[in-house]
Amino acid sequence: MDPIESIAVLRRARAALSGSVGFVPTMGALHRGHLELVRRAAAEQQHVVVSIFVNPTQFAAGEDIARYPRDLARDLAALADERVSLVFAPQVAEMYPAGATTRIDVGPLATRLEGAHRPGHFIGVATVVAKLCHIVAPDALYLGQKDVQQTLVIRRMARDLDLPVQVIVCPTVREPDGLALSSRNAYLSPAERALAPELFAALAAAAQRFAAGERRADALRGLIRRHLAASPAIAVDYVSVADPVELHELDGLVAHAVVSLAATIGRTRLIDNIVLGAP
Ligand code: PAJ
Repeated sequence: MDPIESIAVLRRARAALSGSVGFVPTMGALHRGHLELVRRAAAEQQHVVVSIFVNPTQFAAGEDIARYPRDLARDLAALADERVSLVFAPQVAEMYPAGATTRIDVGPLATRLEGAHRPGHFIGVATVVAKLCHIVAPDALYLGQKDVQQTLVIRRMARDLDLPVQVIVCPTVREPDGLALSSRNAYLSPAERALAPELFAALAAAAQRFAAGERRADALRGLIRRHLAASPAIAVDYVSVADPVELHELDGLVAHAVVSLAATIGRTRLIDNIVLGAP
């Protein structure tokens, strides 16, 4: 299928679709995690629209957007096997013409965790997803739990701006050894790749302790930090046991929490999370 580069052409093609539309926004370099979102959307909606756009406004200063993996031909080949009605792959100038200065800031939620380490990141995410939703006009948006803070930011943005879209969060797809699939895994050397499953192993150890009755937030954070400290090549950015909506750190005893971490292995920064306790 030919990708559509123009907003006007996409709008016309979208208007010609009858029935419900599920939308999967991506930055390309598609892997099984992305494809599971597409399959879920295809199972639940009459049409699926996928966008492929490496969004410059969500890369913080100093992050190497030039290094981000891009292979449109390979992505299109992967989507050819799925039930996808339209692929939107605009150039940067189409999405951000000269003079475009409007940005969407959802507030404190966007400044915690990933937002603290990547200033402006979620302003870029919220802005591009709002624009894409206006262009694609989907009934439902499919996002991955892998980027839990992103799901919360987008949910908030959609609610606060009255976007008529349902936000559907799909489970994190993992390698057999537990490593969450990510486009950035391709950067890992074989030795780094061998260490990377320790991130999920640390989270799984905390989940096991929680299941055994541990409820102290500090103890859970400490357990994860000690687990990761056993691998000196893993540089921890943060370990968080946070409120599942606002993402502020929890103290004392926890009943329901998002447990998340970010760590750098070599030059590659990876994130992962699990949810503890019933909603
Ligand atoms: P990208 O990193 O390409 O991810 C696109 C979608 O795939 C996101 O919703 C992400 O959470 C989901 N995803 C990635 N890895 C996953 C995994 N292992 N399991 C399940 N889902 C996974 O996230 C972005 O792009 C951008 O920020 C975007 C939302 C497109 C805005 O530019």
